[in-house]
Amino acid sequence: MADQEVEAHYSRGDLYQAIMDGLAAAGRDLAHLQPDDLDPLEHFHGRGVKATAELAASLSPGRDDEILDIGSGIGGPARYFARTYSCRVVGIDLTAEFCDVARRLNQAVGLSDNIQIEQGSATALPFDDGRFDGAYTQNVSMNVEDKAAFFGEAHRVLRPGATFALSELSQGEGGPAIYPAPWSDDGRYSFLLTEQQTVAGLEAAGFKIVSVKDNGPAMRQFFQAQRAAVARDGAPKLGPFILMGANAREKGRNAAQNQEEGRTRAIEIICCRG
Ligand SMILES: C[S@@+](CC[C@H](N)C(=O)[O-])C[C@H]1O[C@@H](n2cnc3c(N)ncnc32)[C@H](O)[C@@H]1O
Repeated sequence: MADQEVEAHYSRGDLYQAIMDGLAAAGRDLAHLQPDDLDPLEHFHGRGVKATAELAASLSPGRDDEILDIGSGIGGPARYFARTYSCRVVGIDLTAEFCDVARRLNQAVGLSDNIQIEQGSATALPFDDGRFDGAYTQNVSMNVEDKAAFFGEAHRVLRPGATFALSELSQGEGGPAIYPAPWSDDGRYSFLLTEQQTVAGLEAAGFKIVSVKDNGPAMRQFFQAQRAAVARDGAPKLGPFILMGANAREKGRNAAQNQEEGRTRAIEIICCRG
C-alpha cells in the first residue's frame, strides 16, 4: 500500500515534456543535449550534483565495476557515475514514470550503453546474490517502511567487501518534519529514522560502518546560498522543482526549514559488506 502511495506521490504524468520545456526555456539545445545540461535538475536531493559527487568519491568505482543505484529517480546520479567513472550502473526505482524518464534521458545524452534502469522495490531486489561491486542510495530510505528488508537486500546483492554508500535524511532532534516535503505531501509514507537507528539497522543487516558524516551544516549553507541567488537573480528556470509538481515551492521551503530547525538532518554513511 505504501509503495502505491509513494509511486503516486512522485508521478507527474508529463514529466519528460516538463523537463524538455524547462531545458528549452533555459536556452539548452534539445537536439544536442550534453550530460551536464541536466545537472541543475536531475539530482533529486539537497545540494544536487555536489552531494552526488561526494558520495561517488567514496565509492570511486573502476571501469569494470558494476554499481547499483537503489531508488535511482530520473537517473541523474547514475549518469554522473557512468560519465565520471566509465563504470556500468544499474538503477532501480519504484516509480514507473521516473524509470521511463531516466531511460529517455540516458538515450538523449548518449549514456544508454552504460546504464540499465529497472522498475522495482528496494525491499525485493530482482538481482542475484553478490552481483554488484558497490551500491549507493540517496534520499530514498525515508519512503521505505521496512528498513530491515531494504538494508538486507542491499547486503545480499553486494559482493563481500563491497561498499554501500548512503546519503540520506534522518529524523533530527528539532521535532517532527513539516509537510508537504519533497518525499511526502502530509507525513504518510514517511518513515524517517534517527542516525543511530539507521546505523543499528545497517549493522543488523551485516554491514560494517566505515564512517558517518553530519551533512547538516553543508545543507544549511546550501539553502542559504539558494535563497541569496533567488533574491539576486530571480527564480531559476531549472531545478528539481520541475520534478515536484504544483506545490514544489512549498516543498522546497519546508525542506529548508526542516534542515534549519533540526527536524531532519542530512547524513552520509559509508559501510562495507562483511
Ligand atoms: C527524492 S527521490 C531521489 C531520487 C534519486 N536517488 C536522486 O537522488 O536523484 C526518492 C526516490 O526513491 C524512490 N523510492 C521510494 N521508495 C522506493 C522503494 N521502496 N524502492 C525503490 N525506489 C523507491 C522514489 O520512486 C523516488 O524516485
